[in-house]
Amino acid sequence: MDLKDKTYLVVGGSHGIGAELVEQLSGLGASVICWSRTEPENKNAGVSYAQVDVCDREAELPTVEGKLHGVAYCPGSIQLASFPRLKIEAFEQDLEVNLLGAVRVLQHCIKALSAAGADGGASVLLFSTVAVRVGLPFHASIAAAKGAVEGLVRSLAAEYAPKNIRFNAIAPSLTDTPLAAGLLGDDKKRDASAERHPLKRVGDPRETATTATHLLSPDAGWITGQVIGIDGGMSALR
Ligand SMILES: NC(=O)c1ccc[n+]([C@@H]2O[C@H](COP(=O)([O-])OP(=O)(O)OC[C@H]3O[C@@H](n4cnc5c(N)ncnc54)[C@H](OP(=O)(O)O)[C@@H]3O)[C@@H](O)[C@H]2O)c1
Repeated sequence: MDLKDKTYLVVGGSHGIGAELVEQLSGLGASVICWSRTEPENKNAGVSYAQVDVCDREAELPTVEGKLHGVAYCPGSIQLASFPRLKIEAFEQDLEVNLLGAVRVLQHCIKALSAAGADGGASVLLFSTVAVRVGLPFHASIAAAKGAVEGLVRSLAAEYAPKNIRFNAIAPSLTDTPLAAGLLGDDKKRDASAERHPLKRVGDPRETATTATHLLSPDAGWITGQVIGIDGGMSALR
């Protein structure tokens, strides 16, 4: 796959799945713009960076000019607690970073995405979680926020199909990234997490990024409105 004339924005490309995605897209020749609060450790040729906090409503987002062939929105959260302990503020924080930040970024970028849509196609990728399709205890806040993300994806996929902009989401289960560090902090926790998955391990951010790269590329030009589980079988198997 050659992405030489393509430009992608990866929001949250400094670490985790987003950092792997930046690596893969730039490795295929794409120009990649990375927005996050901290600078990525590895900056390849063809990667530019701007400091952005998607939860800061006062700050203006950097200008995006010309055509944008794809946007991946990676910021997320894991706040797990029993329902009585999940304060309303936890629900607000999860909605802010998972849903409203994405809305803000996409409204900002829609002109540049439309320009690419009119010239062959554009693709948007958001992240959900396995905990939307499968009810898991202590996930009420994040499942509610990501459920909203899935609704956003399907609605925008319908609205922008005539403009040749595709919208999809990936719904991972537990994946070995900084976000999940607290859940994978020692061998006991890691083994217990692996045991919960039919494939008996947790996810590797590189495999999630490989599907993300495919969905953002023209090779996935017939895929829109989908939520794809990358979850070791968790959402479909007993
Ligand atoms: N890892 C898992 O087990 C798992 C499971 C289910 C779903 N997911 C979802 O998959 C997506 C990617 O997860 P991940 O594990 O790769 O997460 P991660 O390791 O926390 O990486 C998230 C990226 O988003 C950036 N980010 C976070 N908050 C931001 C903000 N307010 N403004 C700008 N950038 C921000 C982070 O960079 P800075 O800190 O530099 O800003 C980082 O680059 C998330 O949406 C997550 O909810 C992950």
